[in-house]
Amino acid sequence: METKIAIVKNLHKDIEYIKEAANIIKNGGTVVFPTETVYGLGSDALNEEAVKKIFKAKGRPQDNPLILHVASKDISSLVEEVPNVAQKLINKFWPGPLTIILNKKDIVPDVTSAKLKSVGIRMPEGEIALKLIEFAETPIAAPSANISGRPSPTDVERCIEDLLGKVDYILGGEKSRVGVESTIVDCTVDPPIVLRPGAITIEDLKRVDNKIELDIGLMKKPTSDFKPKAPGMKYKHYAPKAKVVIVSGNREKTIEKINEMVHYYISHGKKVGVLASKENSMKYKEGQIKVLGSILDLDEVAHNLFESLRSFDDIGVDIIIAEAFEEKGVGIAIMNRLKKAAGYDIIES
Ligand code: TXA
Ligand code: MG
Repeated sequence: METKIAIVKNLHKDIEYIKEAANIIKNGGTVVFPTETVYGLGSDALNEEAVKKIFKAKGRPQDNPLILHVASKDISSLVEEVPNVAQKLINKFWPGPLTIILNKKDIVPDVTSAKLKSVGIRMPEGEIALKLIEFAETPIAAPSANISGRPSPTDVERCIEDLLGKVDYILGGEKSRVGVESTIVDCTVDPPIVLRPGAITIEDLKRVDNKIELDIGLMKKPTSDFKPKAPGMKYKHYAPKAKVVIVSGNREKTIEKINEMVHYYISHGKKVGVLASKENSMKYKEGQIKVLGSILDLDEVAHNLFESLRSFDDIGVDIIIAEAFEEKGVGIAIMNRLKKAAGYDIIES
C-alpha cells in the first residue's frame, strides 16, 4: 500500500494536509495523526470495515477495544448516558489526556469496542487532532500508532518506522507533549475506577470525586488467570527488543547496584543501556546512558520514556537497566509502563 506522508508545520498554511487526511478517514481509510499523549492510528470509528484496517495494520489482537477520539464534549450520540461524575470529568479535563469509559449506543460497531458493551472516548487537546476529527465529521477510532507490543510512538519518525506501507496517510506534527497514553477511567461503575494511569493523575481525579480509585491489579504482576478490565493491559506492552530490568531502592544503593550490573553484563560481552534520572546520570561509569529527566520533573521523564526505550533499540543494546521512579503523580504512569516493559522484573538494590 502506498502511504502519503505530510508534515504540518503551520496549522494555517498546512490546513490542506489535514483536510486531505480527513477525506481519507471519510472514505474508510487509515490515517496516523499526532495527539498530545502519543501518535494515533485512526479510521472512522463508526465504519466497521475501516476499523478492521487498524487491527490489520498494527497486528492488534481482535479482543482489544479502541478508543474513540471526538472533537466535542457532547457525546450523547455515542453513549447510553453520561453519569454526573463522568460529565464533571469531561468538563474539567477535556480536551486532554483522559479517556472515559461509558456504555455505548448501537451506532458504535462491535469491532470498535471488541464486542464490549462499553466504549472508551476522549477529546484530545492538539489542534491537528481536533481539526482532523472536525473535518472528518465522525469520531475517529485510534490506538497508538505502533506495531502491537512496541513502545508507543511520540514522534512522526517512529510512526513511519512502524507503519509505512501499512496505512494510507501519515500526518506529522509536533512531538507528543505528554509521552504516555491517556488515563483511562471506567465510569460504567460507581465509584469510577482508573484502568490505566496517565498524565491526569489519581490526585487530579480525586479532586473531582474523592471516591475514584486505581484498579488494584494495576501495579502488580498479573497472574495467569488475571483478567484486567482494560483488555489491552494484559498484553506484553511497551516492550523494546532488549530485555529490561528495573532497579529500585535508595539513591546511593541504586547507583552502586546499577554500576555493578552494567559492569557484569559488559564483561560478559553484552551491550548495556541505562535509563537514568538526570540527578544520577553522571554517576554511571559504563554503558550507554540515557537521561529521562529530573526526579523533580516526572512530566519530563514521561515525555522521554518511550522515545528512550526505542532509541536503545536503534543502537541495539541487549539489556536496559532502568532506575525506578517514585510512584506518585505521573510517576504511577511511568512505573506502570516501565514494569510492563520489564515484564515486572524489579531488583531491590
Ligand atoms: O492516549 C491514548 O489513549 C492513545 C492516543 C492515540 O489517543 N491511544 C491509546 O490507545 O493508547 P490504545 O489502543 O493503545 O490503548 C487503548 C486501551 C487498551 O488498553 C484497551 O484495552 C482500553 O484502552 N480500552 C478501550 N476501550 C475499552 C473499554 N470499553 N473497556 C475497557 N478498556 C478499554
Ligand atoms: Mg497502545
